[in-house]
Amino acid sequence: MLHFTTVDLKRATVKTLLVPVCEDQALHSDPVVNGLVAAAMKLEAFRGKKEQELVLHRPPNVPVEQVLFCGLGKADQLDPEALRRAAGKGAKRCIRMGAPRLWVAVPDEGAAGLDPATALAALMEGVVLGNHLFDRYKKEKENKPLARADFIVPADRARRSAGLPARIEAACRGTLLAREWVNTPSNEKTPEAFARSVAAAAKKGGLAVQVMREAELRRRKFGALLAVAAGSRNRPALLVLEHRPRRSGETVVLVGKGVTFDSGGINIKTGPSLADMKCDMAGAAAVAAALLAAAALKLDRRIVGVIPLVENMVSGGAARPGDIVTSLAGKTVEIGNTDAEGRLILADAMAYAVKAYAPNVMIDLATLTGACVVALGEAIAGLFTRDETLQAQLLAAAERTHERCWPLPLPEDYKELLKSSFADINNMPSAREGGAISAALFLSEFAGRTRWAHIDIAGPAYHKKESAYCGAGGTGFGVRLLLDWLMNA
Ligand code: BES
Ligand code: ZN
Ligand code: ZN
Repeated sequence: MLHFTTVDLKRATVKTLLVPVCEDQALHSDPVVNGLVAAAMKLEAFRGKKEQELVLHRPPNVPVEQVLFCGLGKADQLDPEALRRAAGKGAKRCIRMGAPRLWVAVPDEGAAGLDPATALAALMEGVVLGNHLFDRYKKEKENKPLARADFIVPADRARRSAGLPARIEAACRGTLLAREWVNTPSNEKTPEAFARSVAAAAKKGGLAVQVMREAELRRRKFGALLAVAAGSRNRPALLVLEHRPRRSGETVVLVGKGVTFDSGGINIKTGPSLADMKCDMAGAAAVAAALLAAAALKLDRRIVGVIPLVENMVSGGAARPGDIVTSLAGKTVEIGNTDAEGRLILADAMAYAVKAYAPNVMIDLATLTGACVVALGEAIAGLFTRDETLQAQLLAAAERTHERCWPLPLPEDYKELLKSSFADINNMPSAREGGAISAALFLSEFAGRTRWAHIDIAGPAYHKKESAYCGAGGTGFGVRLLLDWLMNA
């Protein structure tokens, strides 16, 4: 849907034009665009301030039906995220107005001191990410997403950036796919149904797919995962996706928490947030979507996605607090709390990944703890790793994609908190404080000697309210982060 175009706005038939505007500096040299900006800035309601918007219908002397101006604030403070947001809001407005096609007046190369490729990429990302509706369960489909967006640039710039639209689309489509999976209600994404949905997409996308079901998981002794699955009549699965290019050296394993619904189990959750617990497979969705995008982009690295899928429910068969199970790694685990189920399924998935693939590096994504949301808020993920290089790489990817992460520590002495009187380890820490850290420390016990990072996405994976380039619900957080890391590390 993303295209470059070189048009003369005086003559071309452009119906809906998006114009980014700074309050204190011109971003465009095109005289028609500048004329439009000057007309807009004459109005009281628009000064080009950050997040300001204005729509002009049928401006004089230009054959454009409507112009969407988006304010970016001061030029010396402009960052790619402001462009992403502006473009996202533009795409959303087009959806609301019923416009099928959007033209974007791209700022000149070097405008506002931004790297031209970064600025262009951010605008494109904003359009694709904002151009998404999840209306599968609405009988009346009120609106339609944009079918096409044209980025107006000089011909030589289009030539130099020829590969960009396809690259941005592949990555952002991954994000949208992850959002769709997260938004799907739990009654329609049991572990089996979700596994099928991912497997079908993965096969189509050229990934190797393997699905282990309950009998095999039992044979292979996935004791911790099976304990979480015990309370649900919807049986668990372990999904393994593999992107294997012909020439590949290192192996990367990505692990994603896939709890298709987290009721808490016998330690049942209370409070109004229970309906949001369909989001507890957001790590799984991000990993699966990132692998699909990696295949589409033909990345030249072996990437394996290991995705444990369970439903954490309550029944006569459910695991009880105090139960002791033997994990795949051989460590016994006391289930101090059935609501700390994520670390149980991840423990087995990580131990399996280490044994089966001996990866050079392993990253897990998980909506793991409410404590991480308390620590960092809804917009920032917690990043845990003992590997400084990996940490620097992931923080750089987080910065570039604005899928923000903040490093949190893995202090050895806090392992005290996970001591069990009866088993090798307890899944429930003895203190409430530092809950994101004790959860990460639990996982660290199952990473072996592998270079490993854990990203707690409980905050950013799911937002009740819509934002500039995302609707309410699943955000698809992690897909662009992982892809950026895969392409640059
Ligand atoms: N799925 C939850 C964590 C979560 C919280 C995800 C908020 C998304 C939004 C996880 O399984 C959980 O319940 N964790 C417990 C751990 C505790 C029992 C040690 C928590 O955070 O309270
Ligand atoms: Zn839980
Ligand atoms: Zn959970």
